[in-house]
Formats: sequence, C-alpha cells, structure tokens
Amino acid sequence: MNNFTYYNPTKIIFGEGTIGKIAGEIPADARVLITYGGGSIKKNGVYQEVMDALKDHKVIEFGGIEANPQYAKLVKAVEICRNEHIGFILSVGGGSVLDGTKFIAAAAPFAGEPWDILAKQAKISRAIPFGAILTLPATGSEMNPWAVISRKEIGKKLAFGAPPHTFPKFSVLDPTVTQSLSKRQRGNGVVDAFVHVTEQYLTYPQNSPLQDRYAEAILKTLIEEGPKYVENPENSNAAKNVVWSATMALNGLISVGVVTDWATHSIGHELTVLHNIDHARTLAIVWPGMMRVMKAEKREKLLQFAARVWDINTGSHDEKIEQAIVRTEDFFNNMGLPVKLADYNLNREVIGKVIKNLKNNNYITLGEKKRVTPEIVELIFRDRL
Ligand code: NZQ
Ligand code: ZN
Repeated sequence: MNNFTYYNPTKIIFGEGTIGKIAGEIPADARVLITYGGGSIKKNGVYQEVMDALKDHKVIEFGGIEANPQYAKLVKAVEICRNEHIGFILSVGGGSVLDGTKFIAAAAPFAGEPWDILAKQAKISRAIPFGAILTLPATGSEMNPWAVISRKEIGKKLAFGAPPHTFPKFSVLDPTVTQSLSKRQRGNGVVDAFVHVTEQYLTYPQNSPLQDRYAEAILKTLIEEGPKYVENPENSNAAKNVVWSATMALNGLISVGVVTDWATHSIGHELTVLHNIDHARTLAIVWPGMMRVMKAEKREKLLQFAARVWDINTGSHDEKIEQAIVRTEDFFNNMGLPVKLADYNLNREVIGKVIKNLKNNNYITLGEKKRVTPEIVELIFRDRL
C-alpha cells in the first residue's frame, strides 16, 4: 500500500423525504443557480420540492443540460454566473447535470479560456460552492471531485477534477426519486457502479486487503440488490442499497493507497463520442474484453474476484477466470445491457476510429501498468465483435 492523504468534505444527506433539508445547507443570502437536465425533475415532482424548500432564497434556473453534458451549453451558464453574481449552484439531476455543474462552478471564476480546464488541465484555484440533489445512482459524482464533459463539435469527451474545490458541499440522496427512472437507466446505473469498483480493485495485489474487501462488499451488494432494483422501481429497500453502493463505489475510499486501472472508461468514452452509446453501456462492452486480454497481468486479482465475488471454487485457474468473466457478462445482460459491438450494429470498422481518438487524446498507454497500448485495444475489440 502506498502513502496517501484521504480527504472527502462532501456531506451526505441520505434517505426518503430529505430534499427539504437543502434550505439549511445553502447560505440564506446567496443568489442560487439551479441546474437541471431535460425535464425529468418537472415530471417527477422533484423540481417542485426544490422550489418549495428554497422559497426564501433568490433563485435563477438553468435547464437543458444534456446527458453527456455539452461544453457549448455549459459556457452559457458560466456567463449567467458571472453576470448574476451567483453565490451557490444547486445541481438537480443525474451525473451529467452534476458534472456540468462542477464545470460551471470551476469555469465561472476562472480567468483563462474555459476549454483549457479540460484540454490542458489548467489549474483551478477556486470554484463557486455547489451542492447536489442526485436523481440517478450511477456515477459517484455526488461524493467525488471529478467531472466528464463532452464537446461534440470536435469529438471530445474529457475529464477534470480540482479537489477540494470541485467536491459538492452536500449531496442529497433520496432513493424515492429513482422510482421515475426508466428500466434502462436503472440497469445502466448498476453496471456503471460495478465497473467503477473493478477499475480500482481488479489490478494486481497491492497489500490492500481492507480496500479489497470494501470493493468486494460493494460488488456483492450490487449483484444481490441490482436485480431487485432494476425489476421493481418501488422496491425501496433495494433502491436504498443501490444508491449507497453507487456512492461508495467512487468516492475515493476503495482506491486509497493503490494504483488503479481506468482503461475501460477511457476506451468507453470514445464509443460514446463516436456512436452516442450510453456511458455504462460502453463499459459493459469493453470491460469483459479487457479482463480476457489482460488476463496474465490481472491473474491473481481475477482469481480473487472469481472466488470471493462469484464463489467460483472449481476448475483450473484459467477456467475459474473465464467463468468469472462469463458470470459478469450474464450479470450485465440481466441488468439489460448488451455486451457486444454487434448488438449496436457495429463491426470492426469501429476499432480504428477508437484507436485514432485515443491517440489524439494522448492515451497511448492506459491501465494500472500502462500496458494497454493501441495493439491491446485492438485485441479487446476483436473479443467484443
Ligand atoms: O435530463 P433529464 O430529463 O433529467 O433526464 C435524465 C437523462 O435523460 C434521466 N434521469 C435522471 N434522473 C432521473 C431521470 N429520469 C427519470 N427520473 C429520474 N429520477 O436519465 C438520463 C441520463 O442521465 P445522466 O445524468 O446522463 O446519467 P448518469 O448519471 O449515468 O451520468 C452519465 C454521465 O456521467 C459521466 C458519464 O461519462 C456521463 O457523461 N461520468 C461521471 C463520473 C464522475 N463524475 O465521477 C464517472 C463516471 O464514470 C462517468 O464517466
Ligand atoms: Zn463510469
């Protein structure tokens, strides 16, 4: 285990009926910008709950943030923040609205060109404080400082993070708001959280038994609770467990002191850029191939994953690993996510395009040991045709 500093300042307000608590979390004299997406919050009543809670605050709205939030839209909100002297931003939506909000919060006080925050990882020394009401459990954005922003005009999807400035001050996790999610979005959320854990856990032994067991606990909980949550939106017990698992999957706790992977995410982002496939769905395609192709590098952890997460105890080492990969593919399928490129009518032509985009982003060597080269990406995609 390496040395580490762990600092996570986000206050989590969890449970049914907790949205009203935001009034006490936002300074009474702040001019508040409420950010939201395409309108789901107006249909499921969350918007009204927020407006009721903030009836004594000065509120300005900014809606229409897209799934895979777009730079062109977000810079409009940056202007509003500057012109209206916004003192607090409240994100009401899923990971896209929250990631967009992080960018708005960082870009508004930033003196340079906002795109440099993403393209050049420009240093951020402050941000407008913000909080979140999370309506879709998946990304972990509610308790981490990271954001992923897209700019479709130039075919880019890039991440940034500026801790501590881009941690939400608070996040409200009310599991009842997941009831209005489509089955597809519920399945996507479970798989995104699952792969967040494997990106941090499924590397090589690093003397981190506690981090490993936290990771395995989250994976096992998602395997048990995910199907109940996806099948029945009114199963509030399952919803609570999925919401909390997704937050724990990417709030930094399971990756302290260890080297992590994240190659599947980098590759998956290019599938979203090129073919507009939902984020989690790109992971369901890429991740099983990553495990197969990187089997030698990940061997010990794959065997641990097979034994402890899937309870696979028979067969040769290779057979156990293959069984674990197949069980994971079956799980993704059960969550409603296809796992092959053919399911999206894509063929080998996509391989060259993804590799070209990765190279353009300078992602030549990915993964925990920087061994995921363009040649490896090609092998992974051949496994996924
Ligand atoms: O826009 P609205 O109308 O709100 O509809 C959204 C959207 O269409 C809808 N939705 C959200 N909550 C709902 C709801 N519909 C009904 N009822 C509700 N309660 O769901 C659709 C998808 O929302 P989105 O926010 O895009 O999904 P998600 O939370 O999966 O976020 C995906 C984005 O997060 C990034 C992804 O790359 C992608 O851009 N990620 C962010 C990470 C982070 N910040 O740490 C890590 C992740 O790996 C990921 O890369
Ligand atoms: Zn993800």
